[in-house]
Amino acid sequence: MLKALIYGAGGGGESVFNEIRELNEPYEVLAFVDIRTGGTTKKGLPVVFPRDIQNYEYDIIFIATQDNTVPETLHREYGVPMEKINSKRFFYSSSGKARVRALEHFRELCDIYGIDGAVAEVGVYQGDFAKHINRLFPERKLYLYDTFEGFAQKDLQQESEGSEVATYTHYANTSMELVLSKMIYPQNVVMRGGGIS
Ligand SMILES: C[S@@+](CC[C@H](N)C(=O)[O-])C[C@H]1O[C@@H](n2cnc3c(N)ncnc32)[C@H](O)[C@@H]1O
Repeated sequence: MLKALIYGAGGGGESVFNEIRELNEPYEVLAFVDIRTGGTTKKGLPVVFPRDIQNYEYDIIFIATQDNTVPETLHREYGVPMEKINSKRFFYSSSGKARVRALEHFRELCDIYGIDGAVAEVGVYQGDFAKHINRLFPERKLYLYDTFEGFAQKDLQQESEGSEVATYTHYANTSMELVLSKMIYPQNVVMRGGGIS
């Protein structure tokens, strides 16, 4: 049995944990790692800070967060060997299978229960999930809300408070053009740029 840590104790970490359990994968999860909720517990396991990783003997760390700077930070600042970091099973670009599956299921429910109307995503980043919404709802208007230039300064400050990871991703590397270029039915898309506060 390989010993595993899961980086990210939010919904992502939980789905990775559940998947390992449900599929009887040969991993013993020792702990979750989270910069915000270190010191707590989840699923009966400790949630620790990145600095605590060194106290564990582990074979693999599953990344379960959207912050794509994490592997590099774990390696550089916390000495985690790159070959122990598995960032493939979870989404960076939010194209993660579990979310897409859930969306497909939602589409089916809309058909079964006759739920109509436009669809929307609030917080779009580079459009990697929006493209699935667009694909699965080809007949519907898709509203996309985002600054399309990253977090506002005040939100960024709030988000990174208490963070041990200095280089918090703030989603600035995107644009409306980039998002639109990923859509199968761009004619359905209405973009609303700007901060929502
Ligand atoms: C985690 S990303 C969204 C990822 C996207 N849903 C996906 O699955 O690919 C969060 C997005 O929310 C946007 N955002 C955060 N705070 C916002 C605000 N106050 N107003 C508008 N957009 C905001 C950011 O610019 C960022 O693109």
